[in-house]
Amino acid sequence: MNIQNLIKCRVSSAMISVGASIYYDPQVRRSERTQFGHYQVNGIMALAKNLHVSPRQLANKVLCQLNLDHFTNKVEIAGSGFINIFLDPQWLSEQIDNILEEENLGIKVNNKQTIVIDYSSPNVAKEMHVGHLRSTIIGDAMARTLEFLGHKVIRANHIGDWGTQFGMLIAFLEEKTNKNHKDIQLADLDIFYRNARKLYDNDLKFAERARNYVVKLQNGNEYCRRIWQQLVDITMIENQIIYNRMNITLTHQDIMGESFYNNMMPDIVSDLQDQGLAVENQGAIVVFLDKYKNDNNEASGVIIQKKDGGYLYTTTDIACVKYRYETLKAHRILYYIDSRQNQHLLQAWTIARKAGYIPEHLQLEHHMFGMMLGQDGKPFQTRRGHTIKLSYLLDEAIDRATKIVSDKNPDMPNKEIQELARIIGIGALKYADLSKNRMTNYIFDWNQMLSLTGNTALYIQYAFTRVLSLFRKARINKETVLRGSTNIVHHREIDLAVCLLQFDEIINQVASDGMPHLMCSYLYKLASLFSNFYEECPILYASDEKTQQSHLRLALLTSRTIKTGLRLLGIDTVEHM
Ligand code: ARG
Repeated sequence: MNIQNLIKCRVSSAMISVGASIYYDPQVRRSERTQFGHYQVNGIMALAKNLHVSPRQLANKVLCQLNLDHFTNKVEIAGSGFINIFLDPQWLSEQIDNILEEENLGIKVNNKQTIVIDYSSPNVAKEMHVGHLRSTIIGDAMARTLEFLGHKVIRANHIGDWGTQFGMLIAFLEEKTNKNHKDIQLADLDIFYRNARKLYDNDLKFAERARNYVVKLQNGNEYCRRIWQQLVDITMIENQIIYNRMNITLTHQDIMGESFYNNMMPDIVSDLQDQGLAVENQGAIVVFLDKYKNDNNEASGVIIQKKDGGYLYTTTDIACVKYRYETLKAHRILYYIDSRQNQHLLQAWTIARKAGYIPEHLQLEHHMFGMMLGQDGKPFQTRRGHTIKLSYLLDEAIDRATKIVSDKNPDMPNKEIQELARIIGIGALKYADLSKNRMTNYIFDWNQMLSLTGNTALYIQYAFTRVLSLFRKARINKETVLRGSTNIVHHREIDLAVCLLQFDEIINQVASDGMPHLMCSYLYKLASLFSNFYEECPILYASDEKTQQSHLRLALLTSRTIKTGLRLLGIDTVEHM
């Protein structure tokens, strides 16, 4: 039940009958404060201006035409022409009853799409660091959300597994490890990488060998391919462990790295040349785009093939978007990559569009995100200025959660403590990130994220355990409660019910904007409203059985909604804390 859409349709018809265009958006919004109703119509003022009438007069006319059936019990005009809509408790009770009977909390979509989500995408031979955290966590929450809505989601882990650096690494490994690569770990590769770079810059012979290996690798030389594959495997086996620890749904099957597109590049470059879009320029092949000017106001040139024949990151992304449309049949593609790559993506997409590889209607969205900052407001780093490894963050989160859990439960068996600490620690870390608007930078703060109060995972997980303990204490099972019916009277019940019914709107908004923080704010609000309800509407000591049933039904739906909401964020719930 999407109440916002329901009201929007009704208000829209009323507006059309007083002269609005069929495209006019009535601007129906959820109210922040119930004194202004549960929903507000904000579109009267602008419409009044279009129609040259006074807003209040128009509001009255719209009200006369407005058919809200039995789902509201009060509609009023406020201020200079807002319409406030109050939902009827009886109707709310019926809706709660309906949802409790349905699967998926009554959420359905009709327009099912194939959606590719490009996320995480770490680089081979480098450990994942905080920069990949946001992409991984937010991308995964989006994959879960869109899948829940019934879309076909294709997870694309566009790993950096191709490029000139591999020649260098192969040459280096050959020199340093006597061809025994079995025991190499990702952390070693990270160091090799840096050392190989130094050698490459200072040792001409080494550089020559490295370049030679790049060419061999690109031509499919078996020896180079084998070492390359080992590098990829070492990296992705370790990254998979991190994904699993973090409850990220990516698997080996989702790897579609840069190398995957390598064979498609020659055709693309020659096709772009045939179409007259790409030209030779100082030995390289370049596409000039009027849209992107350089400092001298000249069309900027995007290199798609270097002088030495090598292809570039942009060429890969052109082939990649073509493949995702043509072969994967995507209707929509979401890229979770940091904002510095925006220009790069726009260039690749523009070229793909100009060349006719993808149509105008394909939805391409770069969902950028800001940075994680340390307490000092500077990019989050170690004291010595090194980037912080993801594995370190996970260890630290779990250590801190272990302390909290064991302090609270001195008698709990160690195994249980560990499991609880993992769920709480990882949940807190993920939630801290997900709850911030992804467009902004945020300050990373262990104490805040592991707090029991405020907008944290713990607060919401705790609300969930309260409902479970309520059922335990009431000695009532869910089946009995499900057989009853809901009867909403008290204003705390009304507030809670309205919020529960808004889950549908929120999830759809998250799906369209790619903003999981909206789900976090929603769950936080729901948990707070539940707490108010719990304090003012007695459940265990309700006046009669019917009231108790009704209250328990609201509690049950609250717990189901919290569990689902957190699951869509990739965060688990626990039975007790
Ligand atoms: N590997 C890149 C990096 O770490 C991100 C790749 C993003 N995806 C893409 N299609 N370009 O910065």
